Amino acid sequence: MERYRIRGGNRLHGEVEISGAKNAAVAIIPAALMVNGKCRIENLPRISDTEALLLILESLGAKVERIDRSTVEIDTTNATWMGADYDRMRRIRASYYFVGSMLGRFGVARTTMPGGCNFGVRPIDQHVKGMNALGAEVDISDFITAHVPGGRLRGASVYLDKVSVGATMNIMIAAVLAEGRTVIENAAREPHIVDLANFLNSMGADVRGAGTDTIKVNGVEQLHGGVYTIIPDQIEAGTYMAATAAIGGEVLIKNVIPKHLDCITAKLREMGVTVEEYGESVLVRSAGRLRRANVKTQPYPGFPTDMQPQIGVALAVAEGTSVITEGVWDHRYKYINELRKMGAAVTVDGRVAVVEGVETLRGASVNACDLRAGAAMVIAGLCARGVTLVEDIQFIERGYENFVGKLRLLGADIRIIDEPDGTERDTAAAG
Ligand code: EPU
Repeated sequence: MERYRIRGGNRLHGEVEISGAKNAAVAIIPAALMVNGKCRIENLPRISDTEALLLILESLGAKVERIDRSTVEIDTTNATWMGADYDRMRRIRASYYFVGSMLGRFGVARTTMPGGCNFGVRPIDQHVKGMNALGAEVDISDFITAHVPGGRLRGASVYLDKVSVGATMNIMIAAVLAEGRTVIENAAREPHIVDLANFLNSMGADVRGAGTDTIKVNGVEQLHGGVYTIIPDQIEAGTYMAATAAIGGEVLIKNVIPKHLDCITAKLREMGVTVEEYGESVLVRSAGRLRRANVKTQPYPGFPTDMQPQIGVALAVAEGTSVITEGVWDHRYKYINELRKMGAAVTVDGRVAVVEGVETLRGASVNACDLRAGAAMVIAGLCARGVTLVEDIQFIERGYENFVGKLRLLGADIRIIDEPDGTERDTAAAG
């Protein structure tokens, strides 16, 4: 049973290198199934979600060569839609992108229902609506099975009832090889949507308008191989920004696209944090007590829901009363119970949390309820007096590459220990 042991109190100082974007990578790997030939993907984050997706691709008959820590070469020439590693599929959210890529390439798909973080009900009706519009028949039970009666999807107009990252990407993937033009309206606009479109276009697709609310996909006959570099992870960068803000110190966050961080930068500045932007890095400096702020999460370019728990911890130690409104998920406050164990004063009513800032948190034994909640617990532990143990760290390792190693390089006192025998996992070497 591995867990993190954190001794709070050390300010963060130094430089941290951000990895490739998780939520782009987890769509690009399944989308690689659409490519007829070899594609090389660079700046791939080395996290358990991408590793699981690569293993799923292999179970479908793809050849996956790991060139170095952040580069893979994928050849799906001999892949099929059958025989997937259903156990792995069931555990991760992004496995639903295989529905789009299997339907697009083979006209048939079979996947499990997706897993992922538990924020209450996570419907996939907009994905299904999109696939239906493109001519697929979809049946949902424990598995998602779908087929296209004519063999090839046909372009169509799809108006999403809800702005959905997953549905936008899934429909985009499926439409790339469809006959004719697909128009996705009320599309999500996150940086990873643009990144997926750029990946597909670099392999010969014709996707236009990604990053706006209307995406047009002109179907092509086939995609060719190529090389693609994934953008830096907006949320990983934001997590180190929030950590520096809450804990205090000065950190240069490298390999980022500052524009993608605008909403986070603006909020931290409002809280009294200094953020300086350079070409591909941001410098975050925080001294003294943070100021209160209100935060409302929204689809991009709004404040990201995937940063809500991390900023929540910063507000928990800020001066005054802050209000958080969660605008995307019904249940994303499970971490508040854990934070209360550390002395935070927060009340939750539906999608609203009222945070009365306290001067200090105290170490406790807490759970990483999900990926971002887990990151928030780590930040809280690094702010707190005394020792914090974070359990269920497998959630955190799904989405943060070498979290412990990177934090240690910034001076944080955090270790991975395997209890009951107390052995420590080596993290420093990986930097
Ligand atoms: N929704 C529907 N019907 C659908 C799809 C979504 O009603 O068919 C609703 C959801 O219930 C939610 C809203 O639409 O209220 C937005 O959901 P979205 O589809 O955008 O979320 P997702 O694609 O399942 C991705 C990220 C999440 C991130 C959200 C929002 C991946 C694998 N996951 O999820 O990331 O919170 O977008 O930005 O890309 C994380 O990285 O920690 C994470 C949870």
